[in-house]
Amino acid sequence: MADSQRHPFLHGLSKHRGAPPTVVVIFGASGDLTARKLIPAVYNLGVDNLLPADFFLVGYGRTEIPDDEFRTVAVDAIKKFSRRELDADVWKRIAPNTSYVAGAYDDKAAFDRLAQHIDAIEKKLGRDIQPLFYISTPPSVFAPILRNLGASGLAARHLGQPTHSKVIIEKPFGHDLKSAQELNQTIQAVFEERQVYRIDHYLGKETVQDLLVQRFANSIFEPLWNRNFVDHVQITVAEEVGVGTRGGYYEQSGCLRDMIQNHTMQLVALTAMEPPGSLDAEAIRDEKVKLLRAIRPLDQEAEIAAGAVRGQYTRGGTRADLMSGYREEPGVDPLSSTETFVAMRLEVGNWRWNGVPVYVRTGKRLPARLTEVAMQFHRPPQLPLFPGTAEGLEPDALIVRVQPDEGLSLRFGAKVPGHTFRVQKASMDFSYESFEEQSPDAYERVILDALIGDPTLFIRADEVGRSWRIVDPVMHYWSGDRRPIPLYQAAT
Ligand SMILES: NC(=O)c1ccc[n+]([C@@H]2O[C@H](COP(=O)([O-])OP(=O)(O)OC[C@H]3O[C@@H](n4cnc5c(N)ncnc54)[C@H](OP(=O)(O)O)[C@@H]3O)[C@@H](O)[C@H]2O)c1
Repeated sequence: MADSQRHPFLHGLSKHRGAPPTVVVIFGASGDLTARKLIPAVYNLGVDNLLPADFFLVGYGRTEIPDDEFRTVAVDAIKKFSRRELDADVWKRIAPNTSYVAGAYDDKAAFDRLAQHIDAIEKKLGRDIQPLFYISTPPSVFAPILRNLGASGLAARHLGQPTHSKVIIEKPFGHDLKSAQELNQTIQAVFEERQVYRIDHYLGKETVQDLLVQRFANSIFEPLWNRNFVDHVQITVAEEVGVGTRGGYYEQSGCLRDMIQNHTMQLVALTAMEPPGSLDAEAIRDEKVKLLRAIRPLDQEAEIAAGAVRGQYTRGGTRADLMSGYREEPGVDPLSSTETFVAMRLEVGNWRWNGVPVYVRTGKRLPARLTEVAMQFHRPPQLPLFPGTAEGLEPDALIVRVQPDEGLSLRFGAKVPGHTFRVQKASMDFSYESFEEQSPDAYERVILDALIGDPTLFIRADEVGRSWRIVDPVMHYWSGDRRPIPLYQAAT
């Protein structure tokens, strides 16, 4: 067992107490996310013996799929997308309890049929079962699904019992502040907040959770984590890929909505929040909201012009590996001004971070796939101790790598061997690969947490509102900006 597994703090972050008997109902079960992530995640939880002994999986969608065929689709998805090979014994435990209900998302009668289907499972089992609804459809049908979960009584099932209904909602959560508030109202009309799990799968990533451990379970980092030592913070979420076949979706979304409002803001919150009083979900989420409140939104045009930039990729690469420009991608308007890159300078107006800029940048078709949080420390006083060498060096930095190779690097100056005091940058590296244990996929973690009722890694209603409040003015400013969008070549 790795040392970190014994650490009491880490134990608090992975409370794998058993889940009650559960039926997971996936809305949009014929879709891409179900095949690529959700079914493989359920399967891998089965491999790790983390599913409840009485576990049922129900697919729901408009496409008519017989139960047998849905099971075949599920096996194919596991073979193709699971991080571990199909183990026939594990699948044999899940398959008999896997079924499918066909119906529209705005059809109350179909939801009544779904309720009867769950009744029948419960009757066969002879005890109450927790329904966990996973809404994995395009956002246009989130609201009808939620309303019908209310109208059919499914949302209030076993309320007041440990087996009460829960709902997981996929991103995007609204397309601006107003629509996010409306979606929250629709949810809160049928579910209590403690039943709601708004997903940001980034929070399911090992290193993102490790940010909390590094900060609060070690005594060496936290004393440095403030304006006295940190010059600035850089948070980068860079993708090598373009929009691929998702051009139609991306045209409606753009980089600001797709990456900044959710994943990037979550990274900012976890990086900069105050230590929570406990590892209780509400204590952590309270601190995240406090931090998001401390970020000054760029409300004035001059502030936006100075503090936010956008760009769109054009054709690039090499002759052998030529990449299309964004406007040439399928489903994209040839005159589109949708941004595929955003960088922003955020200011956190609190005691700890006053005067320390937080730079966030994210985009598609950048030179590398990389997600990291870098704390850049102040330069040491420029004393004439090491003439001619130290001045040109990059300052010390602590870099938390979220992907592709999860780990941590500490960059500092070291003496080059020899007769002079020549200083060169060196780094100490920790890689997650040094653990024997494999990191689970982010979706495994979030589904497991919803099963056991731990909302720590999900977004609370007020958190969503706060991060939209930061992004909204920039979005509105850019949507009214008639100047051509700045362009960058793919892979630069
Ligand atoms: N795919 C990803 O990598 C990914 C990553 C992060 C988040 N998400 C989010 O997860 C959710 C699902 O993503 P997805 O890629 O699986 O979506 P999808 O394949 O486009 O849609 C999922 C299912 O929803 C139904 N559907 C599609 N369009 C619909 C429409 N206009 N009206 C009603 N039903 C419709 C379809 O099922 P039926 O026709 O059978 O009803 C479809 O199979 C989305 O909210 C997405 O933003 C996806």
